[in-house]
Amino acid sequence: MGTLLRRTHLCGDLDEENLNQKVTVTGWVRKYRDHGGVIFVDLGDKSGVIQLVFNPQLHKEVHSRARSLREGWVIAVKGRVTLRPSGTVNPKLKTGKIELMVEKMEILNVSRVLPFPIENEIQVSEEVRLKYRYLDLRREKMQKNLLLRYQVIKLIRDFLDKKGFIEIETPFLARSTPEGARDYLVPSRLNPGEFYALTQSPQLFKQMLMVAGFDRYFQIVRCFRDEDLRADRQPEHTQLDMELSFVEEEDIYNLIEEMFTFIFEKIQGITLQTPFPRIKYEEAMERYGSDKPDLRFDLELKNITHIQGLERFKVFQNVIKKGGQIKGIKVPEGVSLSRKDLEELTQRVTSLGAKGLCWIFVQKEIKSPLNKILSEETIKGIIKEMGAREGDVLFIVGDKKEIVAKALGNLRLYLATKFNLITSGYKLLWIIDFPLFEYDTEGNLIPSHHPFTSPKDEDIPLLKESPEKVKARAYDLVLNGEEIGGGSIRIHHRGIQEKVLNILGIDSLEAREKFGFLLEALSFGAPPHGGIAFGLDRLVMLLSGEESIREVIAFPKTQKGTCLLTDAPSKVTEEQLEELHLKVKE
Ligand code: AMO
Repeated sequence: MGTLLRRTHLCGDLDEENLNQKVTVTGWVRKYRDHGGVIFVDLGDKSGVIQLVFNPQLHKEVHSRARSLREGWVIAVKGRVTLRPSGTVNPKLKTGKIELMVEKMEILNVSRVLPFPIENEIQVSEEVRLKYRYLDLRREKMQKNLLLRYQVIKLIRDFLDKKGFIEIETPFLARSTPEGARDYLVPSRLNPGEFYALTQSPQLFKQMLMVAGFDRYFQIVRCFRDEDLRADRQPEHTQLDMELSFVEEEDIYNLIEEMFTFIFEKIQGITLQTPFPRIKYEEAMERYGSDKPDLRFDLELKNITHIQGLERFKVFQNVIKKGGQIKGIKVPEGVSLSRKDLEELTQRVTSLGAKGLCWIFVQKEIKSPLNKILSEETIKGIIKEMGAREGDVLFIVGDKKEIVAKALGNLRLYLATKFNLITSGYKLLWIIDFPLFEYDTEGNLIPSHHPFTSPKDEDIPLLKESPEKVKARAYDLVLNGEEIGGGSIRIHHRGIQEKVLNILGIDSLEAREKFGFLLEALSFGAPPHGGIAFGLDRLVMLLSGEESIREVIAFPKTQKGTCLLTDAPSKVTEEQLEELHLKVKE
């Protein structure tokens, strides 16, 4: 059955220019109000809302049918655009000056009672929103978020096209590439006992494309990682993945800064300042306790280990003896902290491994648990070193370097949020000079980025003897405290690649088995190359002002990796398992 009324306009596109015209619009009943006579309906589609008026005196038949309408029903209406009577204008609405006097109506579909109203602000759990995602997405806010996502992707494609990039698809069903997460495995029906891994990123394929001579590649691509999920992590996330031949770090920085300037200008109407600041990894950890510092506020960490007299406190004495650090953070005046706050902050740092938290209230009469332990001179020394003035509060942690960074880095973010110290706007920066390797919790050497990242030329001689001192040609892009991208100049010589794999405990045999195709490709004239990949979900999240990437993904998964709409993952039949040569353990 076809519809009789054909749409002539979108609801939100109507305005005073359409006065007295006969138009047909379609959409969902957002609100229904029967004013004992005249019925008002807010009709909405993707473009916005228009007020419909059903007047029994003018169109009796259609008014009487309108009485059955309910929120969520889908209708097509034809009528005349008129001005709203004075006093009933709604300045908040794009179409707030006009209304549509309905003459004809076709009911296209009915709806069950909606689980929540289709409005921007709704009081409903995320579970319910995800279960009825199609209704959640009907809301203007979500439509805007997904439109923004599309626009960002479109701008990226436009920009990279002009820069000589082409988009090339790479396989999802592949051999696993080590990006540091667990793989999602897919059993192969045709090859009993063998598995594909869903690609964690197209890393090795894009390197192959450089060997193939494509020179500049990009892809908007899904990446699959079986990790513990958080607000900024999904099991399948989307990357803007890029790779370029014959480039060095500066080429990448320039290109990316130009691209971000373009995106921000088009989307936010703001001009970013370039070049973006570059901070070395070591320095970021020292000053902010994080390799993705949020620079929208200060609260820098200051090292006070050298201050005379700290050793009078046993805890600090031990820290100094063991080569640890004592550092502080200064909260500016005007912040009031209760005893409960102090307890909460202490708990926060101890849960991160610190032994405790000291504070100093800088006032005429200094308030601090350290008063009883340290000399007045030492406390004054701390205050001076921290550049504190009357009214400021200092927080101090002494421990192993890593624990101090973790505890104070976390406290820094927490205090900034709690006391509204975050300024608006966008702070982008590069983190550079990462170490090539780090140690995992079991003390094994692992790559900081991935094993295909090139060491700095001058550090190559250190590879064997002191790998932990080797710096990588890697870089991250940080936006408002989120790592939105990361990349590196790659190893393009087979010998160095083998050496790095070797240091990672992958012997030649294993290297050939796992990465044979890469090593082989590198030995066929691989050009110098490098690239970067951006977390597109994170970027769009920040541009839309949302706090979770789930708000900018049409069908996201929960923290437990489930899809509440389709109920995935789910059990499969015995036959399916049989075909795949699998048996589920009881
Ligand atoms: P990396 O692993 O740093 O690099 O990933 C690049 C960017 O992708 C985003 N990201 C995620 N976003 C949402 N959910 C996740 N689970 C998730 N994991 C990562 C982050 C991150 O900065 N192949 C390399 C890139 C390269 O070297 O070119 C890679 O994948 O914003």
